[in-house]
Amino acid sequence: MNTTKHRHSGTRRRPITRPIAAAALGATLLTGCQQANQSLFIGDMSSAYNREIWWMSVWAIVLSIIIFVGVSYALFYTVQKFREDRHDAPPAQFHGNNRLEVILVAVPVIIVFGLSILTVRSMAILNPTPEQATKIDVLGKQFWWNFAYPETTSDAGGVVTNGNEMIMPTKQPVALTITSGDVIHGFWAPNIGGQRAAMPAVQKTWQVDTERAGAYQGNCSQLCGASHANMRYKVVALDQERYDATLAAMKAYRAPEPDPGSAEARGYALFMQGKSSTGAVSCAACHRVQGTPAGGVAGPDLSFFGTRRTLGAGMWEAMTAAKWEDPKAAKQLSDWLKNSPRVKPGSLMPTYDGSEYRNTKGELVKGGTLTDAEIDDIAAYLRSLQLPEEADYWRDSPAIGAGATGGNQ
Ligand code: CUA
Repeated sequence: MNTTKHRHSGTRRRPITRPIAAAALGATLLTGCQQANQSLFIGDMSSAYNREIWWMSVWAIVLSIIIFVGVSYALFYTVQKFREDRHDAPPAQFHGNNRLEVILVAVPVIIVFGLSILTVRSMAILNPTPEQATKIDVLGKQFWWNFAYPETTSDAGGVVTNGNEMIMPTKQPVALTITSGDVIHGFWAPNIGGQRAAMPAVQKTWQVDTERAGAYQGNCSQLCGASHANMRYKVVALDQERYDATLAAMKAYRAPEPDPGSAEARGYALFMQGKSSTGAVSCAACHRVQGTPAGGVAGPDLSFFGTRRTLGAGMWEAMTAAKWEDPKAAKQLSDWLKNSPRVKPGSLMPTYDGSEYRNTKGELVKGGTLTDAEIDDIAAYLRSLQLPEEADYWRDSPAIGAGATGGNQ
């Protein structure tokens, strides 16, 4: 009887394995780009911010242990010493003992005050951002990030901005001014220091830092919609000299002008104008590309797309030197361009395969169409948007927290 039951439940369980297998296969396909799988690590001692929080926590825990031991001792001592079987007389009454009452109020007040000094001290150290700190404006939107360098205006016009990848200098405080363009998001790259909410119409400034050059993982930490988990970013910390050189290259950068007749040139035309005969809207309406007429701000800045190694706000990573030329990465870029809401739920990018999508007003509209060849042309144009080789911030930047080491390296 039992065996029959077993067999039955066995056969019933079987169909469930199929979706799991399909999901596993899907996951394998989705991770076609070589994934760095970087972990977030709150205990990264390369950051002065984290060290401050660490020592504050150590002191708070030590004080708590002392209090715990003291209270436990007093409790067990009293229970032991004043056991009823040793004292048959009624216990002494001390109601109205002012001295005892003052002590019992004063001691907890001193303890709470002592613990709050720890917190206030750390806040005083971490909250003010020095005037000379490097300034970066952080904008979170459903479901991507823009990182702007307000002190660096590009030669081509406009503040130097990068989408979804933030570069910062090492060994100094970096002042982030964080805001949101729609709902509340959370800026959270714990290796370089705590987390801060990105709120619409509010600008919060707060400092982060790291002593170690490398690429760090950042995630959105506030549930903000369908693709909250896909709202990721990278922080690439560069030593001062390299940071300066990279920012100088970004300042001087103008998007390369494609050779007439090339795939890039066809892609450029589609990027700027779209294709009105098939209803394909232009990319330039929503994206900025430094040094071109494309100045849209509804979507992430694409000025250095060819140098970037992440796609869809860190959903996919092409962590190899081949970047988006890598066949699997190229396929993901192509799928993304054709129908990004399909691969990233809630994405507000128009579709280019004719399927319906939700526009920025939340209306369901029919997408335009582009042929595979035209999609490839746009991809070719995007890949050409590269900083000079020496300004490639990914080159020799170790992925901190990648693989099995769990972030502590
Ligand atoms: Cu943005 Cu979660």
